[in-house]
Amino acid sequence: MTGLLDGRAAIVTGAGRGIGRAIAEALVAEGASVIVADNGASISGEGGDPAVARETARALGERAVAFDESVASPGVAKHLVELAVKQFGGIDIVVNNAAILRDAFVFRADPRDWDAVLRNNLSAPFYLINAASAVMREQGKTGRGGSAGYDWGRIVNIVSSAGLYGNPGQAAYASAKAGLFGLTRVTAMDLARAQITANAVAPFARTRVTDIIQPANEAQKTYKERALRIGAHHVANLVTALCSPAAKGITGQLLGVRGREVFLFGQPRPVARLEAGPAATLAHELGARLSDKFTDLTTDLEAFNTEPLV
Ligand SMILES: NC(=O)c1ccc[n+]([C@@H]2O[C@H](COP(=O)([O-])OP(=O)(O)OC[C@H]3O[C@@H](n4cnc5c(N)ncnc54)[C@H](O)[C@@H]3O)[C@@H](O)[C@H]2O)c1
Repeated sequence: MTGLLDGRAAIVTGAGRGIGRAIAEALVAEGASVIVADNGASISGEGGDPAVARETARALGERAVAFDESVASPGVAKHLVELAVKQFGGIDIVVNNAAILRDAFVFRADPRDWDAVLRNNLSAPFYLINAASAVMREQGKTGRGGSAGYDWGRIVNIVSSAGLYGNPGQAAYASAKAGLFGLTRVTAMDLARAQITANAVAPFARTRVTDIIQPANEAQKTYKERALRIGAHHVANLVTALCSPAAKGITGQLLGVRGREVFLFGQPRPVARLEAGPAATLAHELGARLSDKFTDLTTDLEAFNTEPLV
């Protein structure tokens, strides 16, 4: 390892296992100190197990500290940032990776599940960015980032292709991830002057979540077989790169990573325009003039069901 992140302090949520753990391992391997923030919940966000964060932190060594509370509240997010400042003298990197899943078709979903998913997957990243970025900006003024003014601070939000393409039964999850991308854009804008970057990464990797996929057809069976071959260390590699000094000019971007393949996603922008007539004719006009540019209902599982580069 190259000491790319020597002296940097990071918070990684959901770092007790899966992709978050791989990210924490990679950041520590490059010299960073890391708070392993993980409450040890089930995939659907129930229960908790403090041993999950503790065991990962222990395995990572003396530059890792365990934090086992749920990050889905503003008070806890503030407390987490205070812990980083107390333990490491500041905070340079925030990776919002923790997430839960409560899938149900939109016509059957329980609004309480919607609330829980939005709180964990979208509000929690906001709480942490809100608390951490205030400290990061102050650090800039006191020169923590280096001598020539502060040009350091990295926020990475782990999103999902489900939030870009959609997937049947994932209303809450996809909405939260799409929202997290919107939060990434505004964070990048609000922190641009402080030279703190914010990017979104859509990962693909084998974790306990891919392990429990129940294929409903041949295509899903193939998807699962392929997904099980993709290691989370590839995601960690991209996140580490985005956290490195050389990535200081990369902000507001939406990237994907699937094995050794890294994608830059386009961001929705108008692809066609017309001058509207009355409603009675507008739908015909939309169909006649723009339908070749309509986006079809391909799901993310269909779009990314190719042989992975591992
Ligand atoms: N695995 C994939 O292929 C894939 C695909 C798309 C997106 N993602 C995203 O990648 C991220 C990691 O997913 P994973 O597959 O490693 O999942 P995972 O369930 O294995 O890990 C998530 C971790 O987050 C923790 N967590 C959940 N809610 C928390 C909370 N409120 N406070 C603290 N910790 C909490 C859990 O205890 C768990 O250890 C998620 O954001 C997920 O949406 C994963």
